[in-house]
Amino acid sequence: MEQELLSLQDEARENLQQLAEAGQLEEFRIRYLGRKGLCSTIMRELSTVPPEERPRVGQLANTIKAEIEKLFDEKKALLESTGPSGAQGAGSIDLSLPGRYPERGRLHPVTQIMNEVCSIFEALGFSVAEGPDVEHDHYNFEALNIPAHHPARDMHDTFYVSEAILLRTHTSPMQARIMESQQPPLRVIAPGKVYRCDSDITHTPMFHQVEGFLVDTKVSFADLKGILTVFTRKMFGKDLALRFRPSFFPFTEPSAEVDIACVICGGSGCRVCKQTGWLEILGAGMIDPEVFKMVGYDPEIYSGFAFGLGIERIAMLRYGINDIRLYYENDLRFLSQF
Ligand code: FA5
Repeated sequence: MEQELLSLQDEARENLQQLAEAGQLEEFRIRYLGRKGLCSTIMRELSTVPPEERPRVGQLANTIKAEIEKLFDEKKALLESTGPSGAQGAGSIDLSLPGRYPERGRLHPVTQIMNEVCSIFEALGFSVAEGPDVEHDHYNFEALNIPAHHPARDMHDTFYVSEAILLRTHTSPMQARIMESQQPPLRVIAPGKVYRCDSDITHTPMFHQVEGFLVDTKVSFADLKGILTVFTRKMFGKDLALRFRPSFFPFTEPSAEVDIACVICGGSGCRVCKQTGWLEILGAGMIDPEVFKMVGYDPEIYSGFAFGLGIERIAMLRYGINDIRLYYENDLRFLSQF
């Protein structure tokens, strides 16, 4: 019996040492200290001990039970003070580990470029105006000298909401909206989202443009070239080649498209620039007298230029991105680099 008591003490002590979580305490208490636990069972067996040995063995049994209770209380206090995962052993808290920081949010690269483009033009004296994404056919086309059935409508791959309402295909409607409500001189940029049914490595169905226009007396194509040259130099640095290519827009005459040397291949030709060495970033031109007449400006007095640039294209060139769709796949491994 004495031997049994000593083994019980050793076993209980060892089991207590291995306890790592407060949740395991109750199991231990029931096994050793409960009414039907091992201590009570041994106490009941004392009656089988010869009467002359009973006082000594009984005292030992009481001492061992008291010792197990004391150790149990100490362990309980320790585990409950250090929280659910315990202080030592498996599952314990390692206070030397670095903490977990909340992820830092950042601006989308397209938003960053948009902000940069706007601040370059603001520094050149342009004010910022915003207009609706859901637009009337009138402002998107008619007021820009693109009447119904004009072939130029085909170039726009328009998403129609109804016969007269559409998702704007460019920011140029803002020219008409602002000119019909304000008098020259005007120097305005209009940033925003535009929509076209178009998708490949340089086109997305939703993209961003910044419209810019300046109306005054004696504005010339040289002013347009000057402003756009200053802009591209500020945006991309001095060494970048830039070319004005004759083009056509119904609302500007003459018109041009501006290309910059492809930063992906350095101008030697690649998949992104379709082997031309150039990437188109904007359309521009002198505002057509017909547009002036529609908003009530006298084209004999006023002249002006307008341009519309594609923000995603500029972001591609700035960051050397070879597929525009990456901007809209929401892959944080890509987005967190900017
Ligand atoms: C226009 O949208 C004219 N409104 C620009 C303009 C304004 C001309 C004022 C004259 C005066 P264009 O369709 O070329 O033009 O588009 C302008 C720019 O938007 C392009 O140079 C290109 O950088 C960008 N762009 C066009 N389509 C997409 C697309 N699907 N995805 C991404 N960028 C595009």
